[in-house]
Amino acid sequence: MSDPDKPALRLQDCPDWVYLLQEFDSLYRYGSAGGSKSIRSHRKRVRDTLSSVIDRNPEMTFRAPAIKPVTAHLGRALDLAERNTLAGLGRALSRVTDQLTWEYGYETMPKVLERKYAYFEVLGPQGPIKAERLILGFVLFAPNTTYPQHSHKEIEESYISVAGAWSENDGAVYAPGSLILNSPGHEHRITTGELDPCLLAYAWVGSEDRLSAPGMKLSYKRKARMTRS
Ligand SMILES: [Fe+2]
Repeated sequence: MSDPDKPALRLQDCPDWVYLLQEFDSLYRYGSAGGSKSIRSHRKRVRDTLSSVIDRNPEMTFRAPAIKPVTAHLGRALDLAERNTLAGLGRALSRVTDQLTWEYGYETMPKVLERKYAYFEVLGPQGPIKAERLILGFVLFAPNTTYPQHSHKEIEESYISVAGAWSENDGAVYAPGSLILNSPGHEHRITTGELDPCLLAYAWVGSEDRLSAPGMKLSYKRKARMTRS
């Protein structure tokens, strides 16, 4: 979409995206830290890498906007976000919704997930805000969804709910604002509530090579339970 006659836009030319990054910074600076040393150090890695990206004022690399069926639930997710502590992040996101490139990230996508899941990246190797060692984005699930068992090779991942509650594996129910850290290789499965969509902000920390080609694969088959659409 770049026009050779127009100078390229940089991050600071796009205030809505700067403010969205500021909300991410607050989330990883002031959000619930818990008592875990590994969570604290993950949050610090996210903040430090994010600060260096903002300082660099990178060129924006917008791809064509794209939606998926699950984005029909985004309005409700943003409405729900208004009711909780991450309302600021939801509002900042609502300023850029027409510029988002929603995707699946899998070469082979289970049919049942096509209408129930999609994500987009805010920052990362693919842009729109270019970064090499960090990906920040959002993933949206429809109500009553089980996102199958998977893990991430050499990538440290955190999820924070902006709207809607979710469970990881068979553990607790996590409310908006809760953070889960998945270490590289940790197998996890996400289940959302029956009535509300679930919007999670996420961060991936890893090497440039790994984040450019994460090789997303579901490791389910026997283990995952897929809900009916
Ligand atoms: Fe994951």
